[in-house]
Amino acid sequence: MSNCDFQLLDSQVRVVLAGETDPLANASNFVALLYNAIADVNWLGIYVLRGDELVLGPFQGMPACVRIKVGSGVCGTAAATLETQRVADVHRFAGHIACDANSRSELVVPLLVESRLVGVLDIDSASTDRFRASDQAGVEKLCASYCEIQAQFGRFI
Ligand code: SME
Repeated sequence: MSNCDFQLLDSQVRVVLAGETDPLANASNFVALLYNAIADVNWLGIYVLRGDELVLGPFQGMPACVRIKVGSGVCGTAAATLETQRVADVHRFAGHIACDANSRSELVVPLLVESRLVGVLDIDSASTDRFRASDQAGVEKLCASYCEIQAQFGRFI
């Protein structure tokens, strides 16, 4: 399923975040905008890089695991490789960390501010094979916009 107007969502992100200087407020609104605009998603949030761990940040959905080692699970793999992980069936991903038992597919995009990893955006769906290549491209563009806006603060959350 890919029925999201990513271009429209990108302009909404830019409008909502423009002018706000608090990075935590912007991170919170960023995840809320995406969660409400992207269909068939049961969890969406940011994990922030703290040392060699990813720590839970602003999110929408059920309570989730708080700390993930870089290199572990889908999120930690995205952080270690700096490559988006698009997983059609989380049960087939060795080391997948199950937070919400309903999650079946997952898209994790590394967040890079000025080429430095600051965290990841994690999106889960209860549907298997939910995310298309077009979703990946759309979400990667949103993350690039978000990181460009956050770059002005010198700190990330
Ligand atoms: N499934 C993720 C953990 C985070 S939750 O999905 C919110 C992973 O394997 O890294």
